[in-house]
Amino acid sequence: MPKPAVLVARAVFPEVTARLAAHFEVESNSADTIFTPAELSAKLVGKAGCFITGSERIDAALLDAHPQLRAVCNMAVGYNNIDVEACNARGVLATNTPDVLTETTADFGFALMMATARRIAESEHFLRAGQWTKWAYDMFIGPDVHGATLGILGMGRIGQAIARRGALGFGMKVMYHNRSRLDAALEAPLGARYVSKEQLLREADHLVIVMPYSAASHHAIGAAELALMKPSATLTNVARGGIVDDAALAQALRDRRIAAAGLDVFEGEPKVHPDLLTVPNVVLTPHIASASVATRRGMADLAAANLIAALTGAVPPTPINPQVLPLK
Ligand code: DGY
Repeated sequence: MPKPAVLVARAVFPEVTARLAAHFEVESNSADTIFTPAELSAKLVGKAGCFITGSERIDAALLDAHPQLRAVCNMAVGYNNIDVEACNARGVLATNTPDVLTETTADFGFALMMATARRIAESEHFLRAGQWTKWAYDMFIGPDVHGATLGILGMGRIGQAIARRGALGFGMKVMYHNRSRLDAALEAPLGARYVSKEQLLREADHLVIVMPYSAASHHAIGAAELALMKPSATLTNVARGGIVDDAALAQALRDRRIAAAGLDVFEGEPKVHPDLLTVPNVVLTPHIASASVATRRGMADLAAANLIAALTGAVPPTPINPQVLPLK
């Protein structure tokens, strides 16, 4: 029996491609081209499954063009690039990579928040530019992290892992807003207080955004929300571009409506709003929160395990829409 054909839509660890090749005819993309929707569609001709990342959009039109496609396996926990309703309607399995990246992403979110508060990037640029001529009492002073109020917007696995770092490691007071309140057993060890979004914005010294992106969370943080924050507060986003209105944030940073921001994700990335590139009080990183060697490998292995299970009749480890199983 011929092996099913699959597309690995982006470059990935060679060992992971080799693992897939033991089960499938693999078309890979070692040149790591970002396919246009038309190119992706052309590559999917005859494919039963697809290993994708957040850069590939799976929508109803693509699925309709490829009725033979049975599984789309995302190497990411966020899956706003996949129209899950469209997958459900066509019996296509979608999978993601939760859990394996929680601690690594929380490490990065906390590091980015600290770099933002303590002005690490801004002061490093100053030093590299040869502008450091003397010590000064007020040079790059900023807010403390320890003992401050940590506000978390989106208290899922990653939000809770950031809260643990803040509460247990840095003596921070934790408040959060989420679609639903956590169980008391989860709140208690962190001393975490569930508050309204408005209270979170008004009272947080350091706001960290870790909520999923959806149409409902588009521009959840815009000019009106930024206006509620303390002028001394920082904002860190390690969730998704589009949750924050980047133009409004750049204006708030320029006007010192808030003290500083740390951004790992952007609207329309890899493009970055030009105004963010010219304000000094923002730390910018290229969507690398999950980028430790072990975690990226864990994500790739999990996406591959999902694809292998989906197309060999086994139960995939982390399905998004298990209701479509067993696959046709
Ligand atoms: C994720 O897993 O969602 C990260 O943002 C990497 O894309």
